Amino acid sequence: MERRKSSESLQVPNEATPAVLVEHLTKVFQPSLSRQKVPAVVDLSFRVGQGEVYGLIGPNGSGKSTTMKVILGLVQATSGRTEVFGIDSGKVGSRRDVGFLPENPYFYKHMTGRETLEFYGKLCGIHGAQLRERVPELLALVGLESAAGRPIAGYSKGMLQRIGLAQAIVHRPRLVVLDEPTAGVDPRGSRHIRDLILQMKAEGTSVILSSHLLEQVQEVCDRAGIIYKGRMVLEGRLEDLTQLQQQMEYVVEGGPPELAAEIQTLVERAGAKLVSAGHPRTTLEKLFLESTEDKEPATGGTRHD
Ligand SMILES: Nc1ncnc2c1ncn2[C@@H]1O[C@H](COP(=O)(O)OP(=O)(O)O)[C@@H](O)[C@H]1O
Ligand SMILES: [Mg+2]
Repeated sequence: MERRKSSESLQVPNEATPAVLVEHLTKVFQPSLSRQKVPAVVDLSFRVGQGEVYGLIGPNGSGKSTTMKVILGLVQATSGRTEVFGIDSGKVGSRRDVGFLPENPYFYKHMTGRETLEFYGKLCGIHGAQLRERVPELLALVGLESAAGRPIAGYSKGMLQRIGLAQAIVHRPRLVVLDEPTAGVDPRGSRHIRDLILQMKAEGTSVILSSHLLEQVQEVCDRAGIIYKGRMVLEGRLEDLTQLQQQMEYVVEGGPPELAAEIQTLVERAGAKLVSAGHPRTTLEKLFLESTEDKEPATGGTRHD
């Protein structure tokens, strides 16, 4: 694709202007004078390098969507700043090269998938032959060619998210912002969306996505930040976050019940400590649970708006 030339020339993405810069971002909502202020994001800082896939992980209400909306210039920061490719989010120019899949995308239900993409294409200034070429290309990319003539009203959640993804990249943006792209989508559909994100990455697109589906973040992201109550609690490269150098994990199948006690004895005799024993789960999930341990509000972290 023609557009890729600029990103191909970036040999060292980290030295280039970041795709997204978030510096000391704080956002406090005040729903009404009578209600308490809601600090949705508190002194949050991170950056997304060009061509990088960055994951924002956190339970509901932790400030992921708010952060994305500030980056996109849809919500004004209380303090701090955000930039997209070096342009302040407050300026219209910062949105030119950005695609967005909102948390709950709204589509006109009576339109077909094809009409929906034509509609969004036109909104992005694509017309005529260019649009006639781009729409079938997108439908093929997201695997909705056979459903293209059907009204959106009959689409499954996974199909809607894929139309949403296609809509977000109709104008070949350099940055794609995906808010919970796989929420409510079945595992097969999620896999498809994951593959599409990897494809975007392979083409040099920068991606920032939010999710509470940790395994998926683990599969697609270069780096991730865990946010909780609006604050960054942990950030790093996925391979670093998920690798505990000092520990080893053994997965044993089919041993007798006494085996566990024997292993424990063996470990202690060697002067080591058995940190955990149980059924394995993903390392990122472990990390997530540890870093938000004892901090869960009594409501179980659900939204309180
Ligand atoms: N427009 C708004 N007015 C008031 N409070 C809001 C508004 N949007 C979000 N919030 C609050 O900000 C906090 C963070 O919300 P959000 O960014 O949607 O979190 P997440 O996307 O991680 O679930 C929540 O407590 C939410 O209720
Ligand atoms: Mg959200």
